[in-house]
Amino acid sequence: MNLNICILPGDGIGVEVTREAVRVLETVTKKFGHTLTLTEGLMGGIAIHKTGTPLPQETADLALKADATLMGAFGLPEFDNWPPEKRPERGLLALRKLLGVYGNLRPVRSYKSLLESSPLKNHLIDGVDMIILRELTGGIYYGTPRGIEGSGDDERGTNTMTYTRKEIARVTRMAFKLAGQRRKKVASVDKSNVLETSQLWRKVVNEVAPEFPDCELEHILVDNCAMQLILAPKRFDIVLLENMFGDILSDEGAVLAGSIGMLPSASLGDEKGLYEPVHGSAPDIAGQNKANPMAAIGSIAAMLEYSFNLKAEAQAVYAAVEKVLDSGKVTADLRPKGTPATTEEVGNAVCEAI
Ligand code: IPM
Ligand code: MG
Repeated sequence: MNLNICILPGDGIGVEVTREAVRVLETVTKKFGHTLTLTEGLMGGIAIHKTGTPLPQETADLALKADATLMGAFGLPEFDNWPPEKRPERGLLALRKLLGVYGNLRPVRSYKSLLESSPLKNHLIDGVDMIILRELTGGIYYGTPRGIEGSGDDERGTNTMTYTRKEIARVTRMAFKLAGQRRKKVASVDKSNVLETSQLWRKVVNEVAPEFPDCELEHILVDNCAMQLILAPKRFDIVLLENMFGDILSDEGAVLAGSIGMLPSASLGDEKGLYEPVHGSAPDIAGQNKANPMAAIGSIAAMLEYSFNLKAEAQAVYAAVEKVLDSGKVTADLRPKGTPATTEEVGNAVCEAI
């Protein structure tokens, strides 16, 4: 099979972790006799520096032409005070929308060898295995009106959270389909005691649920969900949330996995796939060969699985990751007992294990 993939390393540690992920991709596809067509584009802060915009048309075209896109991370400190519509992150939001990837899967699982890396007690996290499914192309991230207007005491900032029935129904179906292949449980998260968008969310989820009679559905308020993720994370299989709730709670989920450096993600729509580590560009450690490449490497495994249906190939990557974690060759964020491994050493070890 020929895999046609667009690579967008982006900013900060995005560059280093993507480099290792691509090496893993090359290793696993070679082993299984596939060929790769890779294209690389500019996106994020580096694209602003070089072209004046975070998502140049050329990059958008590359992503549209590819079967799947792997991204690194976006954001640089020099843009911290820039308005949202000009920032590097805006390129990411535009690309998600352009590719129509409305469901963002953020698998959170515990690894035996990393139990000590989490600040939570072992018995709480041992056996955690959930997918946080975040709606990705709607809600307050995209709603209008938005902006800051007026001045003085009356200066006002506005964002709009809005969802249509169609947007809720399609991501709900994605949730139930995923649940059907797993433990058959969907927890739908909302704030329906306060928000109208959440009331519609709950109504539509309830309407879709009977299409999947073998799955169990529970509704949980977002504040309670934040607490349950820490108190009893093992109860969750698929956690379905709107865009901003998903952004917030998936960072919380990272604590269960030991480090946000472990969390891959897959954004899927009806056609294209967009893959990225959940972590950001971490400018404080960028360029130092310290960042954990496992989230980017895991995103490769997810790409093989979801975009190309190459299950054995994905499994080979997951198994290699597990083997390297067991060997103790891990980066500083996982608080190893001995000297932390470098980004490159971890990448080498995964390639070797494959
Ligand atoms: C994420 C990130 C992004 C988001 C930022 C960088 C725009 O936090 O993917 O979770 O909020 O979606
Ligand atoms: Mg986030």
